[in-house]
Amino acid sequence: MQKLIIKGRRELSGKISISGSKNATLPILAASILSNQTTIKNVPLVKDIFTMVELLNFIGLETKIIKKKNTIKIENKEKNINTLAPYKLVKTMRAGVLVLGSLLTKYNKAKVSLPGGCAIGSRPVDLHLYALKKLGAKIKIKDGYIFAHAKNGLKGANIKFPSISVGATENALLAAFKAKGKTTLKNCAVEPEVKDLITFLKKLGANIKSKGRTISISETKTKSSKINHTVIFDRIELGTYMIAGALLAKKNLIIDKINPKIIKSELSVLKKIGVKIIKKKNSIIIKEAKKYKKINIMTKPYPGFPTDLQAQLMVLLSQANGVSKIKENIFENRFMHVPELKRMGAQIEIKDKVAIIRGPTKLTGAEVMATDLRASVSLVLAGLIAENRTIINRIYHLDRGYEYIENKLKNCKADVKRI
Ligand code: UD1
Repeated sequence: MQKLIIKGRRELSGKISISGSKNATLPILAASILSNQTTIKNVPLVKDIFTMVELLNFIGLETKIIKKKNTIKIENKEKNINTLAPYKLVKTMRAGVLVLGSLLTKYNKAKVSLPGGCAIGSRPVDLHLYALKKLGAKIKIKDGYIFAHAKNGLKGANIKFPSISVGATENALLAAFKAKGKTTLKNCAVEPEVKDLITFLKKLGANIKSKGRTISISETKTKSSKINHTVIFDRIELGTYMIAGALLAKKNLIIDKINPKIIKSELSVLKKIGVKIIKKKNSIIIKEAKKYKKINIMTKPYPGFPTDLQAQLMVLLSQANGVSKIKENIFENRFMHVPELKRMGAQIEIKDKVAIIRGPTKLTGAEVMATDLRASVSLVLAGLIAENRTIINRIYHLDRGYEYIENKLKNCKADVKRI
């Protein structure tokens, strides 16, 4: 099993280019079932993307990954289609459940494995199924699978989500794409990745209007299609490297291929802590700062501060003066990095949904275990500032979502090695 070995306290300088967004690419790959020919550019070459491509192959689509160009070409020739998403593929990557909406739209039926729990919480799909039922799908759960069908196609409906879910909003959009009449979705997730899916669906001919958390979509009539789409940058990868820069930048750490306009909450939080940031049109520069201030913050759906950056922010707050608090509002079990950070010397206490972080504390290298994607990267950040050597085990979690992480860090003078 691969490990990362980090020798800490190396100053970071140079440039990091941000990859395309994994969380934007995944629903767009699911949406490619609806198109005849799709070319997706700026795709991050990470494990979750390969798993989704494997799922599309299993369904019967033809795919080609052009690694050098970060591009995936997909063709749906409508031959030997299998409307099944098997357990072995959905269990490792929950986003597999997004093919449910597309398969129902295109083939009026789907059998998709229930994704089950995952390390950060129970993560049910009741909101996905709630929306699909409102659109007229008949749904049965049996043997760990969701059996869905809509014999005569789906029908437009007014749907108000009881709570906000990124995946349920995306699945509902995919299902409403050809639903007869008009669908109005209320209390939707409005993450930039949801907006990117909407841009893709519009290229496929969809008539979609959004206002605040309400999205309306009329029945799409287009028959054949050839789509080209470039996915947006990964705002979580950007946030992670901004925090790396805040912790270790000497002179300038430049982070490019981004758009600062869609990370307003992250920028405002980092500025309040005292991180020195210069915004440009397509890049950000992080400068050295001597002291950081404590902060109290909670994670929220977009445009609030993202849960996917909570673990990374905690490492930064371990270096801030005073007692900071982070309330995790999205997932119930997302503090698994805390015991590992404590083993490295961080002073963090958990009370229900709140982590209380006392800083600044000196971290020292240790052998630690990655437990999920974002927890793993917080250990990388901790390793970068710790004294001596940190060994991170189970880095397959990291490879689910961070493209070329050790190369990107090494290019900025970090001492990181994969063995
Ligand atoms: C997506 C992101 C993930 C991010 C999360 C929240 C992808 C591939 N993943 O996950 O990185 O952390 O958004 O920003 O885009 N919930 C229900 N019932 C449901 C669906 C969700 O109760 O049917 C709950 C979840 O357990 C969680 C909350 O709603 O507590 C938000 O989850 P959701 O927005 O659906 O997250 P994902 O789409 O799974």
